Amino acid sequence: MDRKVNILVTGGAGFIGANFVHYIYKQRPDWQITVLDCLTYAGNLANLDGLNESRVKFVKGNICDGETVARLVKECYYVVHFAAESHVDNSVHSPWPFVQTNIVGTYQILEAVRKYNKRLHHISTDEVYGDLELNESRKFNEETPYNPSSPYSATKAGSDHLVYAWIRSFGVQATLSNCSNNYGPYQHVEKLIPRQITEILEGRRPKLYGEGKNVRDWIHAEDHSSGVLAILEKGKNGETYLIGADGERSNREVIELILKNMGKDTTDFDHVADRPGHDMRYAIDSTKIRGELGWTPKYTDFEQGLKDTIAWYKNNEAWWKPQKAITEAKYLEIGR
Ligand code: NAD
Ligand code: TYD
Repeated sequence: MDRKVNILVTGGAGFIGANFVHYIYKQRPDWQITVLDCLTYAGNLANLDGLNESRVKFVKGNICDGETVARLVKECYYVVHFAAESHVDNSVHSPWPFVQTNIVGTYQILEAVRKYNKRLHHISTDEVYGDLELNESRKFNEETPYNPSSPYSATKAGSDHLVYAWIRSFGVQATLSNCSNNYGPYQHVEKLIPRQITEILEGRRPKLYGEGKNVRDWIHAEDHSSGVLAILEKGKNGETYLIGADGERSNREVIELILKNMGKDTTDFDHVADRPGHDMRYAIDSTKIRGELGWTPKYTDFEQGLKDTIAWYKNNEAWWKPQKAITEAKYLEIGR
């Protein structure tokens, strides 16, 4: 194992970034980890509790601040770039922070890795491909053309295009991954699964957008982390890998499964106003990462992963409670 590895993780105090930091901490005990995160509403230092400060250094800073980014990139071996504004509903309500962080922030990361010739892995989403029909067998793969629908997915698509341009024009060493919807511990209560679990824990009913036929392809955050590590260590420079675990479920099915596993009647939910421009279906064909890098997901039983996640939210009320009322007040404002 390479004892000199110092990995810079942007957005490491957010949901997936923190899961990745915990994963690397366990899987690569000789690596030093630096987290750069400005702690927006979605970032929480408590997500890094239990990690020894001799191995994990936290830097509070903004990825749009080129000097801070350059100083940290200069010192590291790998950069894994998770930091982003990540919630579609917020992007429809207020797109500007998405343009700033997702596009300008990624530009700053790219300029720093170019200057210091460092290896970058850029984290993206399957939402850059737009959506699929409910009744087609097609899934997204590495050749699918970009067709983003929301300000969130458009700014993530923009960031991916910057990475491709920096690879081609400047020879930057980078890989990309586009992953499907994640679930697991530390996910902010604004997102589908934690919102419904915590609504039930607070004695209210889950809220389904529109008819709830929309399909998402769920993957546990730990499986996303193992995919990213595989790409970082074995991926081919300049290549993109789609990460997914064959977890397609309609939103209605997800809410029914949560209700069932929390001892409630499966009809005990409310329909609320639909999201404008709501993408219908996402689905990932992960043949490339499985075949070329030998990656496989560990959480193949979605219901079991969901049960573990419900247990985590039950046992960590102090973690989510401070954000819950603020988040529901925001939803009330937009009528969902
Ligand atoms: P999140 O919103 O939970 O966390 C984002 C983190 O980035 C937070 O800690 C926040 O403080 C930090 N951050 C935001 N703006 C910043 C800035 N300007 N400077 C420094 N730090 C900043 O997001 P997440 O769900 O963990 O998503 C992480 C990454 O994974 C994003 O790039 C997202 O597009 C991608 N992704 C997410 C999903 C999903 O299902 N959530 C699926 C595929 C890909
Ligand atoms: P979300 O977790 O916001 O992820 P994304 O929009 O990036 O896929 O939402 C997942 C799906 O769940 C999406 O189709 C919108 C829907 N949804 C609800 O039905 N109710 C809710 O309260 C939320 C937050 C989302």
